[in-house]
Amino acid sequence: KIIILDFGSQYTQLIARRVRELSVYCEIHPYNNPPKIDSSVKGVILSGSPFSVHQEDAPVFDYSTIYKHLPLLGVCYGAQYLAQHLGGEVKASNVREYGRANLQFVDDSNLLLKNISPNSQVWMSHGDTISMVPDNFKIIASTDHVKVAAYQINDTQTYGIQFHPEVTHSIEGKTVIENFLIGICGCQQDWTADIFVETSIKNLREQLGDDHVILALSGGVDSSVAAILLHHAIGKHLHCIFVDNGLLRKGEFEQVLDSYKHMGLNIKGIDAKTKFYKQLEGVKDPERKRKIIGGGFIEVFDDAAHEISKELPEGVEVKWLGQGTIYPDVIESISVNGPSATIKSHHNVGGLPDFMKLKVVEPLRSLFKDEVRRVGKALEMDPIILGRHPFPGPGLGIRILGDVTADKVRILQEADAIFIRNLRDAGWYDQVWQAGAIFLPVQSVGVMGDERTYEHVICLRAVGSMDGMTADWIHLPYDLLSKISNEIINHVKGINRVVYDISSKPPATIEWE
Ligand code: XMP
Repeated sequence: KIIILDFGSQYTQLIARRVRELSVYCEIHPYNNPPKIDSSVKGVILSGSPFSVHQEDAPVFDYSTIYKHLPLLGVCYGAQYLAQHLGGEVKASNVREYGRANLQFVDDSNLLLKNISPNSQVWMSHGDTISMVPDNFKIIASTDHVKVAAYQINDTQTYGIQFHPEVTHSIEGKTVIENFLIGICGCQQDWTADIFVETSIKNLREQLGDDHVILALSGGVDSSVAAILLHHAIGKHLHCIFVDNGLLRKGEFEQVLDSYKHMGLNIKGIDAKTKFYKQLEGVKDPERKRKIIGGGFIEVFDDAAHEISKELPEGVEVKWLGQGTIYPDVIESISVNGPSATIKSHHNVGGLPDFMKLKVVEPLRSLFKDEVRRVGKALEMDPIILGRHPFPGPGLGIRILGDVTADKVRILQEADAIFIRNLRDAGWYDQVWQAGAIFLPVQSVGVMGDERTYEHVICLRAVGSMDGMTADWIHLPYDLLSKISNEIINHVKGINRVVYDISSKPPATIEWE
């Protein structure tokens, strides 16, 4: 495997994704808490950083166990850090080196730059630059403004590059990474979905033995793939629960339950609509709604776990909780910058109370979202489930602004179903990261036939995103919006106006609450 030491760059995850795309397994670790370097580590990559090496509080780390022991690649800050600490000099550059540049000189006889074309476009993003390198450094690429675009330290497998090979604007960046992984570190390209499936089933069997596992399905991609993997590993010892909190999409409970049953899962559907509506009655504050929905879920889940345990043979009990946690959640919780500030208290199944005393098994905790989908495909899962848009845990509860009632849920479900069906029919669904309708707590005047109406407004939201952290609204064709609007106003009683949300994140968020 490859270890990526994170110095806090916004691009660190991208480095990891590029490495994984080349079918090489890698892990991100904070620079100040590196893992033990054993024989499974084939090379180390140092990420960029928002810091300058000259800042007093700039990240420092101990490279003594890595430098000259293993192939080492410094990217941007990583390259500057090595240069600064190994006898070179880093200065603030006169021009801020940001954006596209073209390599003017490339030593393509160097292993790192094999097959890189002389004029290759690269992406620069740094305020400092390496101004001097000692004699034992060999400059292997330059641009007009950046003399030391890439270097190798003689007689070592240590390299530095000041451009960012991980961003797609560095047109041949992936080749540079490939050269490092395959040519220099000697990695095997054996990190594939099929192998992941095979090894994780084996590992899960070893880890779980004859134990029983309980898992809450949400209908989403992550929990579904986690469930199928566990199912392959332990079969009927996996007990799944799917809760209808009354805040799902139209028909979702029945459809999802049905498709899970087809996949052979041992699943129990629980209708808890009334309980949730009752607890939410009159509650307007979004964070309180989240807490109530999260808390209600735990109660239902706890009851179900007891029921399941009762059905097991004498002396046998459920010992594990299965979860669909994926790598970005793990990275965020261990990152240099610490977990990001809670803007909304995103409730996931995470917060189970201590009294349940279950051990946690998370088969997907090393995977990125796109890898989860590939694993799902390798498991021959239904493409409809794998391609589903993300949907928040509190569901329509946070898409109905203000208090939630069964009637508003019905209206929103109808409008949302029309929106989503039209996106699918027009071929837009798979081009959108996430879409849904929002019930606004205002009424507006309209006219239908000769009648004055005074009814509610539905807002449509469709965004493009890589990971939900930033997002932009999707420029849906006017004709399509017009068709959807007509259909909603004509068919959903209680709605006389439809609007489209044209805000990006930041400064807005994807959900309205
Ligand atoms: P925001 O609204 O923060 O949403 O831009 C980013 C992503 O997170 C989802 N989201 C949630 N997911 N529980 C969840 O499980 C929540 O409370 C929650 N709030 C937002 C949102 O749908 C989007 O994909």
